Amino acid sequence: MNERKFQTPYFVIDEEQLSRDFSMLTDSLDDSWPNYRVGYSFKTNSLPWLVTFLKEKGVMAEVVSDDEYSLASWLGFEDDEIVYNGPVKVRDSFEKVLLAGGIVNMDGRRELCWLEEVAAANPDKLLKIGIRVNFNLEKLCPGQTTMGEAGGRFGFAYENGTFAEVVKRVRNISNVEIAGLHLHSSSKSRSVAVFEAIASMACKLKKEFDLELSYVDLGGGYCGGLPNRPQYPDYFPAVAAILEQEFDCEETTLIVEPGISLLSKASTFVTSVVDVRDIGTERYLITDGSRFNIDPTMIKPSHLFHLDLNPDQPAERSTMEHQCVSGFSCMEVDRLFEYEQGPELMEGDRIIYENVGGYTMSLNPLFIKYFPDVYIRRDGKLLRVRRRWTPKEYVANSMLYGEEEE
Ligand SMILES: Cc1ncc(COP(=O)(O)O)c(C=O)c1O
Repeated sequence: MNERKFQTPYFVIDEEQLSRDFSMLTDSLDDSWPNYRVGYSFKTNSLPWLVTFLKEKGVMAEVVSDDEYSLASWLGFEDDEIVYNGPVKVRDSFEKVLLAGGIVNMDGRRELCWLEEVAAANPDKLLKIGIRVNFNLEKLCPGQTTMGEAGGRFGFAYENGTFAEVVKRVRNISNVEIAGLHLHSSSKSRSVAVFEAIASMACKLKKEFDLELSYVDLGGGYCGGLPNRPQYPDYFPAVAAILEQEFDCEETTLIVEPGISLLSKASTFVTSVVDVRDIGTERYLITDGSRFNIDPTMIKPSHLFHLDLNPDQPAERSTMEHQCVSGFSCMEVDRLFEYEQGPELMEGDRIIYENVGGYTMSLNPLFIKYFPDVYIRRDGKLLRVRRRWTPKEYVANSMLYGEEEE
């Protein structure tokens, strides 16, 4: 199929690759800890097609806001299929998920108060709650965590005794059981050692606090789709070897919350060169994709990509020492990468970025250009799963004149 007829910029998700990566995840869990649930991390990419695809494969929805919870409900997830995380939960959805028997991992003191209130209002119900643990992962894996010595800001801190206080307070509520621990921690390395440390922490807490846990939630943060980096089958045998020292697989469910590792390999972003200009000593390629589309946090120095040269331009290209691939926006930082020793690129050439499915689609701003089209590739064909936004979608919920709040 000639993909050149599709107007750039657009994302493509390869359905077969996504299925393969999902099977790699579930096969390795089946082999290592067959009692598991996958809570797909909505924030990573909550494209409705994608979520529906994964829902059909049996995932729960891991959500971290009331908006994500509402989206999950809209997409057909029942309350007992929700993993509710993060510090910005809303009381009403907290209560609904808790009462329905979904997974609620508390992350803040006000949730403790909510828990006490919900428990008091439902004295005949046994409520199951999870606690997000904040612990010093940097000490266990020096140099590997995202925040280093400063530590992360989520969950109840183990080291200063806050976690112990929370356990005590929950134990004072007669109809509440501490059912699980949530130990998600972000790391730069995404190494197997990080997950071994997380599993060890779960074991340590179980012993120290004499916990009977029906689940251990490892969170997300796995690598996927990158050569010479760990893959799912590297993580779970290592985690299982540690967990089984304290936990029985029949009794304790392992919850995993993959995001980027599931999507990276399957997703690409297709852009075109719209103009070539020489300024000073620099050759700029202006493209219709922006750094905001694929590197919204502005941290990537390079990208995996391939080219599709415009057949209407000369096929023979000289090699250029240096071309600056830039976005269309007005920000000077909107430069995607320095292309060195590559063929001279021309108008209509396509630059196709690889491994861009996680976070980039959901972190896209509505800056200058609106959300691009998204297609899936199935049986060699591109099928549209999101039409690019136009001003019509942009103005939805807007008022041209002020309205009074009711
Ligand atoms: C609680 C939680 N779960 C899951 C994820 C998904 O992480 P990743 O996309 O790195 O797998 C995140 C990401 O920050 C998270 O905060």
